Amino acid sequence: RRVILSGIQPTGIPHLGNYLGALSNWVKLQKSAEPEDKLLFSIVGWHALTLPQEPAALLAARNDMLAVLLAIGIDPNRSILFHQDHNPHHTELSWILSCITPMGKLRRMTTWKVRSSKCSINSVLMFLKSRLAVARNSGSEDEVDESMLNAGLFMYPVLQAADVLVYKATHVPVGDDQQQHIELTRDLADIFNRTFKGTSPLFPLPTYVNTPSKRILSLKDPTSKMSKSSPDVQSRILLTDIASQIQSKIRAAVTDSIQGITYDPQGRPGTSNLLTILAACTDSDVTQVAKAYESQGHGTLKRDVAEAVEEFLKGPRAQFDRIRHETSYLDEVARRGATRAIEHSEVTMMEVKTRLGLASPV
Ligand code: TYM
Repeated sequence: RRVILSGIQPTGIPHLGNYLGALSNWVKLQKSAEPEDKLLFSIVGWHALTLPQEPAALLAARNDMLAVLLAIGIDPNRSILFHQDHNPHHTELSWILSCITPMGKLRRMTTWKVRSSKCSINSVLMFLKSRLAVARNSGSEDEVDESMLNAGLFMYPVLQAADVLVYKATHVPVGDDQQQHIELTRDLADIFNRTFKGTSPLFPLPTYVNTPSKRILSLKDPTSKMSKSSPDVQSRILLTDIASQIQSKIRAAVTDSIQGITYDPQGRPGTSNLLTILAACTDSDVTQVAKAYESQGHGTLKRDVAEAVEEFLKGPRAQFDRIRHETSYLDEVARRGATRAIEHSEVTMMEVKTRLGLASPV
């Protein structure tokens, strides 16, 4: 029996990268899962706190993300759909895991390295100042160092490991930017199992399941991934974008001046990104799509990409517009999700505490 778990941060309306890279896969998994498989999908509010959040905006984003997941087809009767921050077992296990996590492993996490690099600290500080008007002087570049970052950002992957292990998840479908976090989760499960041996290993080592579609890149800088945090709103397509917004963003997408269309992610990242998007939205193979556009220009490609994206998004967008205002329904789904999640994590926590010497065996 598989226990499939994934999560997404409630940092605003998801973009096409989140949708094609992760969320659409959740829906596919839900359809293809065996009846005995357990599915858990969480909105990870505690992870969002590692960056400054405006409380009212966070509250709205948590609600919107729940509405999005329902709109794209996550069925709360089939899957356990819940807010991470409604289940305190995640933070409880996170603390326990942090006590067996070598600092060196966390320092090697790419997300930490990126965040703690000098220019990134500056951008986090700028972000802090602009969003929360925190009066903090970053001083000269040389004075900026990792001590200015919050410890939560460093601990981020441990909390993620707890999200997975607290349900003894066996499969974690995520984009490739999360692979390292899943590897850490396996390491921590293994360290725990070896340190606190019982009659059998407590945690299964979860498998990283890469989502079948490729990384979706920024429309403005196709050397980096499409991201929620980029200041340029033209760089991403949101699930709520209407046809005219989709058209203008795709039309303005950075490509190249090479004649004809070919799929060459290294040499032609912008053009290839559009082909990836087209293939994903039409559920077809990217090499075949590229072949069909071989002798076409970028204008035709962009027009067809915009149409395909609109076709792909219009159903979920309409559902979202409806569901996001049904507050009592959303609250009810969240409450039920939390109750079901806690029923599972409670069992794990009792086993964990027993092994640690924090509880008497039941
Ligand atoms: P988050 O919220 O950044 O992203 C959610 C999912 O979307 C994928 N993704 C992308 N895929 C393709 N192209 C892109 N441009 C793109 N941008 C994002 C991510 O890989 C991810 O699958 N740490 C996680 C959330 C998390 C989690 C967990 C995931 C917390 N606990 C436990 C799985 C299991 C994150 O920040 O995802």
